[in-house]
Amino acid sequence: MHLPNLLSVRFTEALKAFVDDPAPFASMIRATNDPKFGDYQANCAMPLSKQIGKNPRELATEIVASLDVNEFCEPPEIAGPGFINLRLKDSFLMQSLRDMLADERCLVSIADPKRKIIVDFSSPNVAKPMHVGHIRSTVIGDAIARTLAFLGHDVLTDNHLGDWGTQFGIIIYGYKHFGDPDQVAKNPVPELASLYRLVNQLIEYRKAKRSSQELPTQLAEAKAEVVTAEQTLQNAGDPKSQKSAKKSVASAKKKLDSLETQAESLREKIDSVESNPALLAQANAHPEVASAVLQETVKLHQGDAENLELWTKFLPYCKDEINRIYNRLNVTFDYTLGESFYHSMLGPVVEDLEKRGLASDSEGAVCVFLDEFNAPMIVRKKDGAFLYATTDIATLKYRLEEFNPDEILYVVDSRQSEHFEKLFAVARKIGMEDVKMVHVNFGTVLGENGKPLKTRSGTLIGLEGLLDDAVDRAREVVCNPERIEKIDPPMDDEERELVAQTVGISAIKYADLSHHRTSDYSFSLDKMVALEGNTAAYVQYAYARTQGILRKAGMTESEVTAIDADLSEFTHPAERALAIKLLRFEEALASVHQDYAPNALVDYLYETAKAYAVFNDNCHVLKAESEAITSLRLALVALTGRVIRVALSLLGIRVVARM
Ligand code: ARG
Repeated sequence: MHLPNLLSVRFTEALKAFVDDPAPFASMIRATNDPKFGDYQANCAMPLSKQIGKNPRELATEIVASLDVNEFCEPPEIAGPGFINLRLKDSFLMQSLRDMLADERCLVSIADPKRKIIVDFSSPNVAKPMHVGHIRSTVIGDAIARTLAFLGHDVLTDNHLGDWGTQFGIIIYGYKHFGDPDQVAKNPVPELASLYRLVNQLIEYRKAKRSSQELPTQLAEAKAEVVTAEQTLQNAGDPKSQKSAKKSVASAKKKLDSLETQAESLREKIDSVESNPALLAQANAHPEVASAVLQETVKLHQGDAENLELWTKFLPYCKDEINRIYNRLNVTFDYTLGESFYHSMLGPVVEDLEKRGLASDSEGAVCVFLDEFNAPMIVRKKDGAFLYATTDIATLKYRLEEFNPDEILYVVDSRQSEHFEKLFAVARKIGMEDVKMVHVNFGTVLGENGKPLKTRSGTLIGLEGLLDDAVDRAREVVCNPERIEKIDPPMDDEERELVAQTVGISAIKYADLSHHRTSDYSFSLDKMVALEGNTAAYVQYAYARTQGILRKAGMTESEVTAIDADLSEFTHPAERALAIKLLRFEEALASVHQDYAPNALVDYLYETAKAYAVFNDNCHVLKAESEAITSLRLALVALTGRVIRVALSLLGIRVVARM
């Protein structure tokens, strides 16, 4: 049930008398923030009055005169310059709640026509340890996929693993030069991870040494720029030049700031090696490590027997490693077609582009030139190597032939925007304009200091450790003896552990999903695992309370099937407010789909849990004034439980019956 859509159908009818194309005006229906103005407000009279040259209030009166919403609403009221306020009838709400009791889908309609949608998400580069940055694509992509499937679409999820790139060059190099075959055989995952870290550290060290040579000059220049800008500001006379001078000072300072941060991170990288004699000796013994690693990667791609054998041996270990995390996060995929899957298709893809006249030679490399971009998309390097972009074109072709989708969503970091813009431009050139392709981009996870989240040694925080920390926190907050003591009958160890695991992992997911995907956010375990505020625990607790009441009533959710037939009005505003929240579930899901933004569902859950808390504080359920009222309140409790559980499940979050 999508209330604004139901109303907008009626507005379309009413508006036909005033305008040829009423649809855009009819859809201008918004929920109000204040019940004083009704539940929804139609805002069409003002813009339409401009278009047809009429007084907006008069027009609103005329629209209302021909509007038939009697089935849903009290007589509409006109407010201010021409707002049409709509208050839903209690009897309609009550009937909708009755319908909802009989519907496991919570009255969410099924998409017609359904679309075939591929969601490309998670897609980490394996062989290197997963870090906190990987959580975003995994959690956002999973929530989008679940929501679209629930809405009735035909969803295919694909984990486009980076299983063929430089990171394998790194572990192959590490294994050949520093690896202990026995150790790797015995303890493959941690051994390979530490080889990866070692070689990566050596590469970063070399890079840092090189960049640090240029940095002093750059810093001096940036400092001089700040001084010049400040002088200009001092001499600026009129407000306009003062304003622009202030801007220049700010931007010069920002540049200096970022260079200083860069310098600090270079120093850390250099110190971490130079403070350790053994490491320094290794660094000195492998001065060309970066190009040697690339060499190993090239050999792998060219089919070198030894490297291919090592890759075949290592890949399953890398997959075990990430699968452990997917298990903990309760995330699965329909397909895991990594980059390696497309390897044999890359040559033909480039030939095909050349044949179509889309790709051409440029200084030995093969490039697709695109009018909208300054730099072309390189699809084969001078040395014959293919690129990330080449694989993505091959992937696109494969998906089209194999699955024939209507839509492909790429849930990938915002920093890859240009890559996807180019990819989509190429796709249009090769005749894929019928498929809707969207880069569902997202921002960065920051530490509480506002900078990208790092450990003290400067590496990104590992994902597993983070999950463990969250579970520990949840154990402290939710399972502390004082809280737990009050639960009757007492929780045994097993149940307590289940609660800690569920709340801990959910906290991380929920916090990530609660921000609009395009914004960066600060990672704070304390805030995430709190019982108050917009957190998973708050919503899960609301759910547990619904279950507590049902237990007391001696009924399961599905046994609550009726609201007393005589009841057609609410007896307390908190009942009505909660009922409306419950009936707005589909609106929240539609917003998730519209913008591919699960935070709309998180906001909805928080609002619903708050409305439930107000209801709980004000309305006795089992000791209500009459049985009829109890029947309504029990229905509200059961439906709140159902809506929260279903909505959380679409975010990939579980509930517990008691906490
Ligand atoms: N492996 C890539 C990375 O970690 C992300 C891949 C996203 N999907 C795609 N089809 N390009 O940056």
